[in-house]
Parts: sequence; C-alpha cells; structure tokens
Amino acid sequence: MNTTRARGQQADGYQQVGVLFVCLGNICRSPTAHGVFQQLVEQRGFAQRIAVDSCGTGDWHIGHAPDKRSAAAARQRGYDLSPLRARQVEADDFRRFDYILAMDANNLRDLERMRPSDFRGELALFLDYADGVASREVPDPYYGGPDGFDEVLDLVENAAAGLLQRLIVAHRL
Ligand code: 4NP
Repeated sequence: MNTTRARGQQADGYQQVGVLFVCLGNICRSPTAHGVFQQLVEQRGFAQRIAVDSCGTGDWHIGHAPDKRSAAAARQRGYDLSPLRARQVEADDFRRFDYILAMDANNLRDLERMRPSDFRGELALFLDYADGVASREVPDPYYGGPDGFDEVLDLVENAAAGLLQRLIVAHRL
C-alpha cells in the first residue's frame, strides 16, 4: 500500500512501529497477513502506533489487486483485502520498517541479501510468532487447491496474535 506512513511521528509524540510482510508475489500470502494484522491492530486500538504494509520480492504482479482466491477466503473470515495493491520490496523499506517478516525461507534469503549493514530492525520469518505450528513457513498457495488459502489464513491469524503481543511488550504500547 502506498498510503502507509511507516515509522511516522504521531501528533502525540509517539514513534510508530513499522511492520512489513513480505512474500514472493504480494498477491496471496503477504496481503493476507497485511489485512489480518491491520484489522487486529485496529480492533485492539493500536492503529496510531503500528503501521502495516506488505510487498513481494518479485516484480510480476506490481500494481495488481490480491489474488481473487486469497481475497475470497479472507472475506469469508471478515477481512477486506480489496484496498491492497502489490508492490516490490525496495531498499528504503529497511529504513522505513522495524519488523520485516518473510513468509518463507526463500523470501527471507532474498531479503537478507538486500539487508543494509546498519539495519537495526528485525528480519525474520513471520511464523516465528505463531504458536504450536509444525512449520515455520507459510506455504505458497498460488499453484495449489482452495484448501491452501484457508491454511494460509489459519497460520496468519495465529502468528498475527503472537506478533501483536510481542509488539505490545517490546514497545510498551
Ligand atoms: P504469494 O504467491 O507469494 O503468496 O503472493 C505467489 C503469487 C504469484 C506467483 C508466485 C507466488 N507467481 O509466480 O506469479
């Protein structure tokens, strides 16, 4: 989303915490994480304190809306992904975001290659924040069946709850 003001100074003087979700295409997994976490942040009253965005390591889908299957699965659970548009990760993201969270190990490896030496934020797998899951990666649902999109949502909802708890404690929100 190009409207995000990550790490902006708020009128009340607080610095925002910036969270960026990253997958390959930015049309399935990371927009799902973006929409789910954004809604959780808003529901819990932290919208002024946490800025959320998503992007992809690849450039194939720049400007595209989320995949229809991802959007439909998300809508079934009450999440609206329709405002989101895909963009590619850029060097400036390492300055703008405190938490850069990859959906799988390939995404993480690509991001580690871009990581500037002075990045002081956290670059990690999103599922590091999930509770009781067998894998640390969100499987890519793009070429799979419809169950894959629900599985993405299950994993994302789990990790989103863990991530918000971590931010509340670490940043005294
Ligand atoms: P995402 O899924 O990384 O979760 O957005 C994909 C979307 C598109 C492609 C691959 C993965 N693609 O090859 O076009």
